Amino acid sequence: MSNESLTITDNRTGQKYEVAITDNTIQAMDLRQIKVDEEDFGLMTYDPSFMNTAACRSAITFIDGERGILRYRGYPIEQLAEKATFLEVAYLLSEGELPNQEQLDKWTDLIKYHTYVHTNIIKFLEGFRYDAHPMGMLLGAVSALSTFYPDARNIKDPENRYLQRARLLAKAPTIAAFAFRHSRGLPFVFPDNDLDYVGNFVNMTFSIGGQHKANKVLQRALEVLLILHADHEQNCSTSAVRGVGSSSVDLYSSVSAGIAALYGPLHGGANEAVIKMLDEIGTRDNIPGFIKDVKDGKRRLMGFGHRVYKSYDPRAELIKKIAFEVFDQTGMNPKLEVALELERIALEDDYFISRKLYPNVDFYSGLIYQAMGYPTEYFTVLFALGRMPGWLAQWEEMRCDENLKIARPRQIYTGPEERPYVPIEQRKALASV
Ligand code: SDX
Repeated sequence: MSNESLTITDNRTGQKYEVAITDNTIQAMDLRQIKVDEEDFGLMTYDPSFMNTAACRSAITFIDGERGILRYRGYPIEQLAEKATFLEVAYLLSEGELPNQEQLDKWTDLIKYHTYVHTNIIKFLEGFRYDAHPMGMLLGAVSALSTFYPDARNIKDPENRYLQRARLLAKAPTIAAFAFRHSRGLPFVFPDNDLDYVGNFVNMTFSIGGQHKANKVLQRALEVLLILHADHEQNCSTSAVRGVGSSSVDLYSSVSAGIAALYGPLHGGANEAVIKMLDEIGTRDNIPGFIKDVKDGKRRLMGFGHRVYKSYDPRAELIKKIAFEVFDQTGMNPKLEVALELERIALEDDYFISRKLYPNVDFYSGLIYQAMGYPTEYFTVLFALGRMPGWLAQWEEMRCDENLKIARPRQIYTGPEERPYVPIEQRKALASV
């Protein structure tokens, strides 16, 4: 056996086993040979939140959490944020290479061709209450798209998958803008394909009687934010897209699972939670009391901490810089002062240092979205628009994975052993719940 292996001694039997190491991992199935007798099922691993489990092989995004590195298909996020457009990044994530001019023009035309949604989607969205959370509307509308494009069930046809991915990337901003307009009680503004991807979204969102006079600095800032959110390897929502997609369900149903996961305040919903937290803190002199509550375990410092980054999230660094560019245009957001002081105090406090808790992508992004005129509950929709190309690329990579099988984890059973049925007259009353 090569050196790239583990020798495991089962102290229950004295038996030794050689287990190969590949890509700094061992195959979990190689542990099943470790048994106490022939009746034994064999060893499994127990990793309830996948803290130390690679669920797939992926070539899309690389993260080094210790060094704060994030690359899409090998390109540093800092360079893409500075030089690329969102559609270029979406192409890169899906196709693996930056497009040349001809490829980009063709890709842009394809996306523009699919920006409209079936008018029945409008009726569907109008069915939501006036105060429906826009993430709930996005979730419902994207899953409903599976009923408008039944051909999407033909997931074995690569050309069909490509068409569905282009359709969803094109329609996501339209649905998101319609949700915004519904929450404002405004008439829906339809796509204007003379505008670029982000300009079209901004126009559908903010236009009042004619084309919206967009602030180009704010529009580019929004595009950079979308780029920074575009993919992040096997995060909670991407894992949901892959897991649901592994059942061979269509793309729209798979991505709606990702939207549902992103909705959560520990994931994409954190940008909304940060603003609510800053509103609650109010002024700088309330920060020490809030930090005490966090250290006493009563509260979480939303927008801080990360499963992978144990240093400053590189996206947070870039977003913090964008915040100042945006506020030059819109005027300072008073919450920024509290956020900066909160960060300063936290980064000096051993509770956060010892747990390697740093600002993540959600800490400053909400301040920018608010300055751009988006309501707090809309922030996660903007996160979803950014993450859409990542979900699409990861779904496609999963579909093409030669090792693809339906995701179906095992468990450690902790329930009662076999017991006989009890007639109802013999059952004891359970302690009142
Ligand atoms: C995103 O995975 C991704 O890549 C996600 C994302 C992406 O692009 O897809 O980067 C986007 O979701 C960013 C994270 C947004 N969420 C938040 O900002 C919510 C606040 N942060 C956390 O709840 C937490 O940090 C998580 C959910 C982000 C990560 O949680 P982990 O890895 O499960 O860590 P944990 O909860 O086990 O915490 C470890 C310790 C605990 O203390 P002890 O029990 O050891 O005493 O750190 C503490 C936690 O209490 N801790 C925090 C904290 N985060 C962790 N304490 C206070 N405030 C926090 N924010």
